[in-house]
Amino acid sequence: MVSPRGQSHGKRDAMRQRLLMRAARLEDLPAVCALEQKCFTMYRLSKRQLRYLCGRETVIFHVASVGGKIVGEAIGLMRRHGKRLSGRIYSLAVDPEYRGRSIGLRLLGRIMRDFHALGVGRVHLEVDRDNEPAIQLYRRHGFCGMEELLDYYGPGGHGLRMLRQGKVR
Ligand SMILES: CC(C)(COP(=O)(O)OP(=O)(O)OC[C@H]1O[C@@H](n2cnc3c(N)ncnc32)[C@H](O)[C@@H]1OP(=O)(O)O)[C@@H](O)C(=O)NCCC(=O)NCCS
Repeated sequence: MVSPRGQSHGKRDAMRQRLLMRAARLEDLPAVCALEQKCFTMYRLSKRQLRYLCGRETVIFHVASVGGKIVGEAIGLMRRHGKRLSGRIYSLAVDPEYRGRSIGLRLLGRIMRDFHALGVGRVHLEVDRDNEPAIQLYRRHGFCGMEELLDYYGPGGHGLRMLRQGKVR
């Protein structure tokens, strides 16, 4: 049965189950890879790339799950510049069936808190200039548009570099 808002009872029941966030493990990678396929049309991370990133010291890699199903992932990279560390949001994705429930916001918050705890100051990212949901989400976390990236995603696929500096709330 489908409710007036278009959600099946099964889906709503699933959402009543608790959202869990934790560091990604090797056994999560097939599900994360499937999520990359589902959520991105270009520059999807392959299983090989995900395996390389999982568990590395300079990578923060979290998954979100509901009832044991992986429904979101977030990856942050750290880089040292002399004494300072900078961060980059490398991937953030939420299963389309679970969007609009603050999962993206919470995953990004988790990465930002980990960055802060590790002493990361500046955090940057690149996003498709037309990707309004993601741009709005990043703004909610204090990111500002910093630079237009013409043809960053191929001819006509313009990007936006966003930056966040300072203390994480
Ligand atoms: C971007 C993405 C991760 C958002 O995930 P989500 O769990 O649906 O987002 P949330 O529910 O946490 O939304 C947080 C905020 O983001 C913004 N937002 C999310 N979806 C939006 C939409 N469709 N339109 C406009 N703003 C939106 C809003 O500011 C929202 O806050 P609000 O609900 O109080 O208005 C998800 O849409 C996604 O996986 N997209 C495909 C992959 C992608 O583009 N990743 C980013 C690559 S840089």
